[in-house]
Amino acid sequence: MPDNVSRDIADPLLAWYDAHARVLPWRAQPGAPPPDAYRVWLSEVMLQQTQVAAVIPYFEKFTRQWPDFASLAAADDAEVMSAWAGLGYYARARNLLAAARAVAGDHGGRLPRSEAALRQLPGFGPYTAAAVAAIAFGARAVVVDGNVERVVARLFALADPLPAVKPQVRALADSITPDVRAGDFAQAMMDLGATICTPRNPKCLLCPLADSCAAREMGTPDAFPVKAKKGARPVRHATFFWLEGDGAVLLVRRPPRGLLGGMRALPTGPWTDSPPGLKDAPVVADWTLRNAPIRHVFTHFELNAVLATATVARHNDPVESEWWPIERLDEAGLPRLFAKAVEAMGRMA
Ligand code: ADE
Ligand code: SF4
Repeated sequence: MPDNVSRDIADPLLAWYDAHARVLPWRAQPGAPPPDAYRVWLSEVMLQQTQVAAVIPYFEKFTRQWPDFASLAAADDAEVMSAWAGLGYYARARNLLAAARAVAGDHGGRLPRSEAALRQLPGFGPYTAAAVAAIAFGARAVVVDGNVERVVARLFALADPLPAVKPQVRALADSITPDVRAGDFAQAMMDLGATICTPRNPKCLLCPLADSCAAREMGTPDAFPVKAKKGARPVRHATFFWLEGDGAVLLVRRPPRGLLGGMRALPTGPWTDSPPGLKDAPVVADWTLRNAPIRHVFTHFELNAVLATATVARHNDPVESEWWPIERLDEAGLPRLFAKAVEAMGRMA
């Protein structure tokens, strides 16, 4: 795309950003020198799949407790996993630690500056590498997240649905990214998507790009990105075991790899296509299966769990598990689906 056409978008967008950028704890003011790369990276990892408002308290807690790569690299894994609890997508937290240790160990405590070198670090996909290179180091990098996809699909009225249209979105995002202020440009696209070019009822009258927008010209901005018909998520079934004794409940730590890896959890049997009943109960006991289901939606499936409850006299710690005081379950760092089970037991404030 000729430079004058790309400036038609970048110039008004950057002018809008100068006036309307959201003030966020990991950001520099528009046009100011970039913020600390550690904070940019941490925020970008947290912001993948989690909304800005939900991320802010986690970001502040993490940066207070672990203000730089060295302190995070030296952190206790379990403490980091607990601090992450509630943000979901726990592979991100494991990669976070792995990357902090790689940076502290192999890179002298500083992130490498190029997109290509960043891509070598754990957890750095194309999005994170581009976002950190642009926002923390001022490099020209093409940053495409969900907001950017939506804005681009509308600006160019792209006819094909996601994800098939992604390569085209990327090429067009590249064509409108300026050589300077690429980090501000990326964040301006995100802010535009979050506040003006919203999924429903975009505020085209307030939009700095209205004059260049094909979807607006067609009169149907919400029709983009075009939706593909999507299949329903499969349902899997599980039993969560609530074993209580002497005011405590039995918790386990999930295996380090796989879904919710390394997180504290209630013992569960297998997750299968039909309800597994009491299969793989942690101990032999007089179990009662409750029938109120606990539902939780993961990316690729929905889990439908029931609780099995039993009470035992507590006498020892079974291997690989711990008795946790029921009064203090809110401090156990349980992932959301197990917290739902605790709520179902009427135990959590
Ligand atoms: N979402 C992902 N990264 C972001 C950022 N830097 N600012 C606002 N929203 C974001
Ligand atoms: Fe989005 Fe409307 Fe702006 Fe087009 S004019 S980019 S649809 S807000």
